[in-house]
Amino acid sequence: MKNEIFEKALSSALEVRKNAYAPYSNFAVGAAIVTTDGTIFTGVNVENSSFGATNCAERTALFSAVTAGYRDFEAIFIASNLSGKAVFPCGICRQVLADFNPEMRVILVNSETKKVEQDLLLSDIFPGIFEFGKEQ
Ligand code: THU
Repeated sequence: MKNEIFEKALSSALEVRKNAYAPYSNFAVGAAIVTTDGTIFTGVNVENSSFGATNCAERTALFSAVTAGYRDFEAIFIASNLSGKAVFPCGICRQVLADFNPEMRVILVNSETKKVEQDLLLSDIFPGIFEFGKEQ
């Protein structure tokens, strides 16, 4: 990924985090997913009083990109801070991301320090992926 896109996606994830709707957990997450052509889509967690209806930031970003017609993803930046550390994507988000690119770069950003804490591949944290077999 070009450095310019990397920096833009990093700041987008940090910036959009301010829009998280998290009145129940008070835990705000911002995400920015980068397509193979360098387009960036952002997302935040959107909670609900029926807790199970909550959508994570990662899926919000991906759903927004897919809605706009994009399906090829290179990386996702996830900005958060829980007790001083950036969090990993949850199991549901790993499964959803893996459907599009199991080798996607996952970049964990600490929203306090604004620094990249981990830069790994989805396959590193989500082996043994469940695949149904796609028609297209
Ligand atoms: N959350 C995310 O948005 N992404 C993650 O990677 C972990 C969890 C949200 C969901 C919920 O709004 C809050 O964090 C607490 O679980």
